[in-house]
Amino acid sequence: MWTRPRDQQVGLPTHTLDVDRVRSHFDFADLGRVVTNNAASTQPPRELAALLVTLTKGYENVHRGQSIASQQTTELFEASYDTFAQWLNAPSRRTIATYRNTTEAINAVMYSLLTDFRDGDNVVTTMLEHNSDFVPWYGMCREILPRFGRHVECRLARFDHRTGELDLDHLAELVDHRTKLVCVTGASNFLGTKPPLTLIRAIADGSGYRRDDGSSGSLLLVDAAQLVPSSYVDVQRLDVDYLAFSCHKVLAPFGVGILYAKERLLAQARPFLYGGDMIATGRVAPDRVEYNDLPWKYAAGTPNILGVIVSAYALRLLPDLVGVDGSTRWFTSTAPLPAPLVAETMNRVGRHTAELTDLALCEAMSIDGLSCYGPAAGLPRSPLLAFNVAGVDPFALAENLGRLGVEARAGCHCATLAHRDLGLDPPASCRLSFALYNSRDDMTYAMDAVRRVTDQLRRRPGLT
Ligand code: ALA
Repeated sequence: MWTRPRDQQVGLPTHTLDVDRVRSHFDFADLGRVVTNNAASTQPPRELAALLVTLTKGYENVHRGQSIASQQTTELFEASYDTFAQWLNAPSRRTIATYRNTTEAINAVMYSLLTDFRDGDNVVTTMLEHNSDFVPWYGMCREILPRFGRHVECRLARFDHRTGELDLDHLAELVDHRTKLVCVTGASNFLGTKPPLTLIRAIADGSGYRRDDGSSGSLLLVDAAQLVPSSYVDVQRLDVDYLAFSCHKVLAPFGVGILYAKERLLAQARPFLYGGDMIATGRVAPDRVEYNDLPWKYAAGTPNILGVIVSAYALRLLPDLVGVDGSTRWFTSTAPLPAPLVAETMNRVGRHTAELTDLALCEAMSIDGLSCYGPAAGLPRSPLLAFNVAGVDPFALAENLGRLGVEARAGCHCATLAHRDLGLDPPASCRLSFALYNSRDDMTYAMDAVRRVTDQLRRRPGLT
């Protein structure tokens, strides 16, 4: 929790995005909606809906037909993996697997690694995590492995209740020579904290954990569900072993999550799902099954073909929306996305959403009885603010904001550990979260609505 010092002023933001131009691509903008629940999911631009319609004209399965429609769909589907790899500056499509969302991608890592954990190993994660990066490890350590007589501990690093920052000293204490895996959020969906991934990489590297190949160090998994939508993420520079994000938080429709993993890990690991297409063609016998080449070893069964293609095009559209090079050629071209283009695109999105967040945080501090969680304005954080107002039920607050057109989310946001750790009862807060299409007017209107609704609820506490 933090309170703005009286003399602290945040300077006027510099404009980094032509928000009107961005908004002109979205239908929600004409409906009077103040879309500020973007940490849960973003809105789809019109181009993606049109693309979906176009794709249905050549509707066919991938890797399962000789028709021109099947071949063309296969080509688009496979090229999507290139786009995901380029977006993350990953070496190639061989490092990409697609799932339904971040949660499923992290579960895939858990199930793939399950049998590699040795008795006495541990997993270190944090109290900042979304349930998707805690509950799978809890399940593995408490429910699955004990049934096989293997005991693996799940350890949780603390955070500073005042600043929301991860306690790196505690994390470093928890990581030891039996830590097979360190799992950490890249950006919290509740506190907004952005843990320093380079330092955490160094802590994992220095653990002394003995790997099967004779080298040492712990694996590092990053839950990037809230990081990828507003930052440039270069998996090679960060040197992460695994990184997952959801495309429905980056303009795409629901249903696609991306897992990046180092190629050697995917090559040696067991698949998460077994079945069709993940096997080498014709290499199935009663006593021996051989797996397909990467990345298709991790694509069992008919995948979410249209979802994957449209998700890749959502990324391709971003540089055009942001207007990085003044043209609109990336959405309609098949050229590889250069890393500097992606970096500039996401840096602009990040600056814009950070400016809105800082202004909103300062507005929030002038509302009587309101406490925001996490790092103060001006510090690195996810583009969101979660707060409570003394004497006001966060659910009633969000519902009443909804009546004014402001789309907030109340609850624990699946960051239940952190809510409980802060002693919140009920474990809930009200949250506003920004995306590239939010304007300064959205932010002002939303914060004014928070002020009005809290006044109203304080005067009439029974109001819901
Ligand atoms: N984890 C998503 C959120 O923060 C759903 O709302």
